[in-house]
Amino acid sequence: MVDEILMHNKIIRKKKAYFRKPPNFGDYENMRRGFSWNTCLRDIPWFPNRKMNAAYVAVDSQAESWRRNKVALYFEGDIRKERYTYLDLSRLSNKFANVLKEHGARKGDRVFIFLPRVPEVPITFLGTLKMGAIAGTLFEAFGEKALEDRLKNSGAKFLITDSVLKGRVYKIKRSLPDLKHIILIDGKTTKRSEINYPKEMASASDEFKPVHMRPDDPAYMLYTSGTTGKPKGIVHAHIDVAQQKLSSKWVLDLHEDDVYWCTSDYGWVTGIAYTIMGPMAMGATMVVHGGRFSPEKWYEILEKYEVTVWYTAPTALRMLMMSGNKLPKRYDLSNLRHMCSVGEPLNPEVIKWGLKAFNLPFHDTWWQTETGAMIICNYPSMPIKLGSMGKPFPGIHAGIVDDKGRRLPPGKEGNLALRPGWPSMLRDVWSNRKRYRKYFIGGWYIAGDRALMDKDGYFWFVGRADDVIKTSGERVGPFEVESALVEHPAIAEAGIIGKPDALRGEIIKAFCILNPGYKPSSKLKESVQKFVKKKFAGHAYPREIEFVKSLPKTRSGKIMRRVLKAKEMGLPLGDVSTLTDTA
Ligand code: WT7
Repeated sequence: MVDEILMHNKIIRKKKAYFRKPPNFGDYENMRRGFSWNTCLRDIPWFPNRKMNAAYVAVDSQAESWRRNKVALYFEGDIRKERYTYLDLSRLSNKFANVLKEHGARKGDRVFIFLPRVPEVPITFLGTLKMGAIAGTLFEAFGEKALEDRLKNSGAKFLITDSVLKGRVYKIKRSLPDLKHIILIDGKTTKRSEINYPKEMASASDEFKPVHMRPDDPAYMLYTSGTTGKPKGIVHAHIDVAQQKLSSKWVLDLHEDDVYWCTSDYGWVTGIAYTIMGPMAMGATMVVHGGRFSPEKWYEILEKYEVTVWYTAPTALRMLMMSGNKLPKRYDLSNLRHMCSVGEPLNPEVIKWGLKAFNLPFHDTWWQTETGAMIICNYPSMPIKLGSMGKPFPGIHAGIVDDKGRRLPPGKEGNLALRPGWPSMLRDVWSNRKRYRKYFIGGWYIAGDRALMDKDGYFWFVGRADDVIKTSGERVGPFEVESALVEHPAIAEAGIIGKPDALRGEIIKAFCILNPGYKPSSKLKESVQKFVKKKFAGHAYPREIEFVKSLPKTRSGKIMRRVLKAKEMGLPLGDVSTLTDTA
């Protein structure tokens, strides 16, 4: 076990630069003992009468301070290379808030953003929050069906997109009665009903007084998937920003002169919490990469922007690892000081490789769309146990419980659970209070993950408790993929599973029953894959397809994905007493 524990003092000896500055977070037990959420809540600017606005916390308060001319964002796109100061972002988001207002947006309206990684995402996101509307982001790989479900359920009134992506929206526009305005950031409008962003931004006033909100008023919502049914709109409040700020300070260890790069897309919660809200509330300087992944490009960004703090994900790291140890040596990466990871299990091999390639360990963090901020983490000042997610953030009470919500002792595997009440916790599931309530059992929030806690209080991830798939760190609901599959003319029924994969964590594998008249072929597989990419999402299609004659089902007709998975992996089938078909 001792070998498995990386003592930080060893790392300091290896690389003095690691603690060029003392970490913001001290001794774990001390920090935890003296902690109260009040300290966290007091650390953000408030309006009178306990009102606030998360966008004011993130940008305007910086623009009103000595940080006004500090670079908030370096954008590295394939063609666009731009930089924005805090004052720039404050003024641009003010302009956007005015544009929304002029078109009749009101407090509580849903304003969705469907764009690639471009600076217009944080600008419109912050502008939306300022005027009291609820912002949502949609991953650019989403296809018609995924967009339809999300835009319909949220009743979005405004959609911000571009002339390339808008085609997918028009395919489904008829089923979206609430969607009144489509804003095109490239100004290539072809319909009178479309709003020309560059034109309207140019003439809008850059002054706007952020609406005073209650801390628990909704600020943004993100759709995410469970085992069954359509995606859920996870609703988050303005006060989230307080916890996002404190975790940026303690876990990302952001200091004033850091250059911070988070590789997440704005379409996921990491892109909101740690590419907009938390780091900006800390007044950090950020890098955003607008293009596709390539090892060369990523090392180039680390070098070019002299990145000091890096937050990324295991699949990307495994891809870098595969590109070899020689490549990073060609770049000057000596500014790197602290590295964190999130989204899926961070395997010990990756940490060991990180030590070789960067002379630094990766710090794993665990959290979810629902938690709104980091929950279980490895801190710069705390020894890392390879393969562990770390320890609960101060103020967080995490436990391992059985299915009835009873606490289990250290070393026992069970459901990862949290005592409700942390500031950035989800507030609701959009128009589905029943689903929201289902998260809570016996006074605990049940995360949906299996895990265990060791005797030192470190948490270890075991797997998902449900059928949710994590492919390249992205959360995919099996029901959505299955629904897209059966819309293909050749497919009668489909069941999907996450199949373990050395690179992507899991890949999506589909078992399909064909309609009469169709024969299995590789051409048909390709056609099905293409279909799912277009219908549902470019990133969440089945990389493997197996045509089968029947699917294991319960007596009530539900496909038993658990059985499909066990069979695929050659594991015992478990309890199959309700099974009707085991072909
Ligand atoms: C699920 C949440 C919040 C960041 C992005 C993911 C898995 C997350 C880890 C980790 C093992 C992890 C869990 C969790 N997950 N972090 N460090 N080790 N698994 O947010 O898309 O809502 O997914 O991702 O299964 O429940 P998300």
